[in-house]
Amino acid sequence: MRVKLASSYGFCFGVKRAIKIAEGYHNSSTMGPLIHNQNEIDRLKNDYNVGLYNSLSDVKPKDTVIIRTHGIPKNDLKELRQKDAKVINATCPFVTTPQQIVKKMSEENYSILIFGDENHPEVQGVKSYGKDTDDVHVVLCKDDLEKINFKYDKIATVAQTTRKKEIYLEIVNALILKNKEVRVFNTICDATFENQDAARELSKEVDVMIVIGGKNSSNTKQLHSICLENCEDSFLIENIEELDISWLKNKTLCGITAGASTPDWIIQQVVTKIENV
Ligand code: F3S
Repeated sequence: MRVKLASSYGFCFGVKRAIKIAEGYHNSSTMGPLIHNQNEIDRLKNDYNVGLYNSLSDVKPKDTVIIRTHGIPKNDLKELRQKDAKVINATCPFVTTPQQIVKKMSEENYSILIFGDENHPEVQGVKSYGKDTDDVHVVLCKDDLEKINFKYDKIATVAQTTRKKEIYLEIVNALILKNKEVRVFNTICDATFENQDAARELSKEVDVMIVIGGKNSSNTKQLHSICLENCEDSFLIENIEELDISWLKNKTLCGITAGASTPDWIIQQVVTKIENV
């Protein structure tokens, strides 16, 4: 079976950075999963004894605590410092940016709108930086704006880093029609788009597409849905065990892409297995 890799795939800058940081702190633990990939988390545990806290109450004084790439809520960070833990911040700088924007704009009496998934840890973290979290609103689409009552007539918007720009524009266009001032910050991360554009192109030319990544990773799920638009035989797997050889039957060219949290060694295992089919 011929295999073609997307021109851009896998780990982004923020994830590579977080892993490198974690590898530098043997016997530490992360607050929340460091990245959205269980296999890589297991590798860090086995090779570097990097553990995982289930909750803040597990942290003891002098513990070394690594903050995950998606960040944590402001009060959690404060509590960690109060506990006298050694805090190592592996939050991706592209996630720190919307946190700081929300902090600054809400201090300047702007109501805050976040485009993203309310339940995603990144959004929970960004939201927590608002001066008045009741006036930090989270939407997934422009229709969600109907139910919002902003406190001020000045609105500042940020987006979860992995969201689609087209939908962000729809939301912003709807906002500007009803509000005097809208400050729009483009906090969407291009790393995701490079992988998405490459997946879109590749899925147009292959017979079958394999997307490798965590099932709870939003950018992996988006890659899968983009591939499905062009190639109905597109499958999402977390690791080599989930690869079903019957998907490759009667196919000649298999495209492969991987989410931003997928380590190269997992991708390589899948490539080798498919090449030998
Ligand atoms: Fe950061 Fe963008 Fe990756 S926000 S964690 S570089 S997808």
